Amino acid sequence: MSATGKASLVPAVNNAECPWDLFDSESYQQRNYATLHELDQIIIPKLAGFFAKQNLGSDLEAIDVGPGTNLYPAMSMLPFTKSITLLEYSSTNIAWLEDEIGNYRESWNAFWRALADSSDHYGAIADPGVLLKKVADVQKGSIFDLKEGRWDLGTMFFVAESITGMRDECAKATTRFVRSLKPGAPFAATFMENSRGYVVGGHTFPAVAVTEADVRTLLRGVAGDIELHHIRSPHLFRHGYDGMMLVTGVRSDTRSEPSREPGWTTIGRTGRRDRQHAAR
Ligand SMILES: C[S@@+](CC[C@H](N)C(=O)[O-])C[C@H]1O[C@@H](n2cnc3c(N)ncnc32)[C@H](O)[C@@H]1O
Repeated sequence: MSATGKASLVPAVNNAECPWDLFDSESYQQRNYATLHELDQIIIPKLAGFFAKQNLGSDLEAIDVGPGTNLYPAMSMLPFTKSITLLEYSSTNIAWLEDEIGNYRESWNAFWRALADSSDHYGAIADPGVLLKKVADVQKGSIFDLKEGRWDLGTMFFVAESITGMRDECAKATTRFVRSLKPGAPFAATFMENSRGYVVGGHTFPAVAVTEADVRTLLRGVAGDIELHHIRSPHLFRHGYDGMMLVTGVRSDTRSEPSREPGWTTIGRTGRRDRQHAAR
């Protein structure tokens, strides 16, 4: 059950049990990123504004974890980076990313314009497609294997809560992402709010139904300066989730294990599937 008592859409399984290599990249892209949807229009100015005020320079090493077929988190880091590692686990998404980054489709221009409208850092880049091709490096890997303290800047969009039905794995993924950054490094992450799972190209994927309180608990001890924005629209309440959350912050200056609330360290399955999730 989700936090609001709604039944989950998929049997809760762990990350290793999901059919990631059957992830239908083009179907996911078409549903979520063929056009600039309302919720991304809300997220992008906040994301761009956060990075723009960090005094980042232009030669950072960044990571986007679990990019799937979403290029805009990586695009949001372009002005500040000499390299952006796109760490993906699914072989279909890796192949899609390698193709797409070579020559990205016209529809990404709307996402870039939204970034450029939000901060001069983006407007100063003449050809984001060429720059992305130069700095992006698609790598096969798992969030659970990320090394501590490696990256200067990071994004993780709809990953920790959308790659597993297990609360302990969601917690581990969140902390592994944040701790893969250097102390003080800024990050932006998004979470589906109270997701009941989702369907991509006929295959079902689980989710952990997280709330604002859950996300704040997960980040306690590993991150500071947290700002959490609810990203909502009345049009989405029938689609298997209640909205999205954008979280920005910086990695804490500590290597100690984060404290967790009871419930996040236990292994629990979150429910059953009963209808199709229309989006991420
Ligand atoms: C819900 S999709 C989110 C995709 C994209 N970031 C977005 O904003 O739409 C989850 C992504 O996490 C990837 N993933 C699944 N397991 C992973 C793992 N263990 N490590 C890293 N990425 C993983 C999936 O292949 C998929 O691309």
